[in-house]
Amino acid sequence: MAPMTTTTAGGAARDGSSAVDGPADSPFVRACRRQPVPYTPVWFMRQAGRSLPEYREVRAGVPMLESCRRPELVREITLQPVRRHDVDAAILYSDIVVPLAAAGVDLDIVPGTGPVVAEPVGTLDDVARIGPLDPADVSYVDEAVRLLVGELGATPLIGFAGAPFTLASYLVEGGPSRTHARTKALMYGAPEVWHALCARLAEITLTFLRVQVAAGVSAVQLFDSWAGALSEADYRRYAMPHSAAVLGGLADAGVPRIHFGVGTAELLPAMGEAGADVVGVDWRTPLDVASGRIGPHRAVQGNLDPCVLFAPWPVIEAEVRRVLAEGAATPGHVFNLGHGVLPETDPEVLTRVVELIHTASAR
Ligand code: CP3
Repeated sequence: MAPMTTTTAGGAARDGSSAVDGPADSPFVRACRRQPVPYTPVWFMRQAGRSLPEYREVRAGVPMLESCRRPELVREITLQPVRRHDVDAAILYSDIVVPLAAAGVDLDIVPGTGPVVAEPVGTLDDVARIGPLDPADVSYVDEAVRLLVGELGATPLIGFAGAPFTLASYLVEGGPSRTHARTKALMYGAPEVWHALCARLAEITLTFLRVQVAAGVSAVQLFDSWAGALSEADYRRYAMPHSAAVLGGLADAGVPRIHFGVGTAELLPAMGEAGADVVGVDWRTPLDVASGRIGPHRAVQGNLDPCVLFAPWPVIEAEVRRVLAEGAATPGHVFNLGHGVLPETDPEVLTRVVELIHTASAR
């Protein structure tokens, strides 16, 4: 593939009037920093993945975790949505459990289910068997990021990791859970084990993100997908200190930190306080309302309901325009879905949504 030019990769000013030097001056990074932008930047969580036929093709016969360990494949899958949709940022193709597997946890990602852990964690002895993560154990991530940064030009690459609470949930439950009952039982019943586990996960996560930052990512996102299972008081007590250790550990990294969760309407201020530059918002809370709760010193990211993409186009268009209008009333807005792209989504609709966002928001 030829190197991407700034005009096709979405990093350049669309009207050609102002030059863009590199990812640090891209609309995406500028919006994260609450600086003026020529148009509202957009990317989609899970933009790389099963909604794309070209993804299904290159993944055929390669197990998920294995695919994350092949830099050439990571490079290809990460670039696929950028080529196709003209999104304003790429997100590294990987998974939140990749650093756990690299730190010695016996786990797999089962298609249609998600991460499954062979020996769920419940005691201090179990915690002692995890990690720490040696950067050399994820050298394939370093290599993939360097390949991508070289190729993406002015288009920023987003690095990411799972937050300690969400990672702990998979480790304690042994797999995905609707209620997080075992997780909460450990949290309330054996807080010393809980905090030891989350402290270890925070270390692993920070190491994993530092590897990505050193290799050149332009922003990082901390996914605390299941934090919305907690009350605000419990979030502040059991989850936030560990996420704050990760985000605080990156305060001097020089890249914006995005902090994302689902069902977090009550947690938004705390998620900002944990050390985020941008707070991800799901579709349940309008962006202007969310921003009012979070305060003027952080940008917001979101928040189209992923299911709206299955609606007739006039409904999609109206919803995109509503999200843009609500986002315009915040100090900084990165357009995204409220959660990841669903595998059944028509990729042509996503491309059309990107075009609409860019034209409708042009200043
Ligand atoms: O495009 C991107 O967003 C980058 C890639 C990415 C993946 N996982 C690839 C993936 C990212 C950012 C993640 C994060 C992730 N992984 C989260 C947080 C985001 C969220 O959705 O809340 C979580 C909770 C996981 C754990 C996980 N991994 C789940 C729940 C699943 C889905 C299982 C299934 O088959 O339905 C995975 C697997 C996974 N991770 C896939 C992809 C593209 C699908 C695997 C496949 O193609 O078979």
